[in-house]
Amino acid sequence: MGKAPEAAHRWFREARYGMFIHYGLYSLLGRHEWALCYERIPAEEYRQLAARFNPRELCIRDWARLARANGMRYMCLTTRHHEGFALFDTQAAPEFSSVATIGRDLVAEYVEACHAEGLGVGLYYSVGNWLDEGFVRGPQADPVGWHRFVTVAQTQLCELMMQYGPIDYLFYDGCPPPETWDAEGVNAEIRRLQPNILISSRCELDEDVVSAEGYTIADPGTTWETCLTTNSSWGYNAGDPDWKTPRQIALTLLTCAHNGGNLLLNVGPDAEGALPAPAVELLNEAGAWVHRHAEAIYGTAPHPFAYADQKLSTSRGNTAYIGLHAYHGPETTVAGIGNRVDAARLLGSGEAVDFRQEGNRLLLTGLPRAMPDPLLPVVALTLDGDPVGVPNPLLNHAKYQF
Ligand code: GLC
Repeated sequence: MGKAPEAAHRWFREARYGMFIHYGLYSLLGRHEWALCYERIPAEEYRQLAARFNPRELCIRDWARLARANGMRYMCLTTRHHEGFALFDTQAAPEFSSVATIGRDLVAEYVEACHAEGLGVGLYYSVGNWLDEGFVRGPQADPVGWHRFVTVAQTQLCELMMQYGPIDYLFYDGCPPPETWDAEGVNAEIRRLQPNILISSRCELDEDVVSAEGYTIADPGTTWETCLTTNSSWGYNAGDPDWKTPRQIALTLLTCAHNGGNLLLNVGPDAEGALPAPAVELLNEAGAWVHRHAEAIYGTAPHPFAYADQKLSTSRGNTAYIGLHAYHGPETTVAGIGNRVDAARLLGSGEAVDFRQEGNRLLLTGLPRAMPDPLLPVVALTLDGDPVGVPNPLLNHAKYQF
């Protein structure tokens, strides 16, 4: 399991829920973080955005407060996206950074905010850089330019590892093939500088964290994370109305937990660094659900019974948590339980639920008529010991078993 120390993996896997932040020059345009590419904006014109970059003081504190208030346990900030603008102090390309334009090291502010709120520190870094001609031309067409581009990226990665104290997580993006920038050597150096860091396998090498962008994977043996954005853009997009619903977030988070993974939920602050109101509302509503269901989420084990029988379940010790993602009123059957069930209760209200057992079938008979949680109800079962699953004889093909 990965290369980082076991304790780092454990921390990450128990944390379950994090906040992803996409913030950069594209936030000033408000037309998706790929505007430079999609609209083929001339490099010179795009670079001029840097002069207008001016986030409000303390906006980063607000992001971190919101994350913590809503049950997120770590953050991940785009320290440099595909546009190449660095939100940190860099000697490698000093002229194109927040320090050069406004004298502010936003990564330093961010790390401080994470610490203040007790959140794990994740840094996103795009190796690819659309404003670097060497990168755009490629290693064959322009070996000298490529070498220059690689040197900047390698140096900046080391700067990020050296300037801000312990970093918990490095999230790679936009990586060219690993052999073209010595990803292996770079990662070895990163681990030397940050022995406890978790490195994303998005560099196309088998590192620590597998990234599933926009989907979830059933791979509890691996440390993995779904990243998902709150609407359809990662960076601020004033014209994107496709906000996810709080229920979608709750369902995705419980699905991640059921499969042993994390959810990194993205928000794109606007030009000033303010989070769009619909994103804040969404995080707050989803966060209220997370708080009501915290014991089913953090530090839980994935699908304690038969994976294919019960879509969303987690456990801790002898307590199993069953998500009722389709709600059918007073009666619901949960099949495949090999334990004696001693008690059942609804999370949130704590209300006891009547039940009876028929073989491996648990019949919950005392659920409220109306859905007891506005987003997604979860029932906690107290078992007579560690959860025991009973395989479904109708699904006895190997691919359905775990
Ligand atoms: C993609 C996109 C990017 C976004 C990222 C988030 O690779 O290029 O804009 O930052 O995924 O996971």
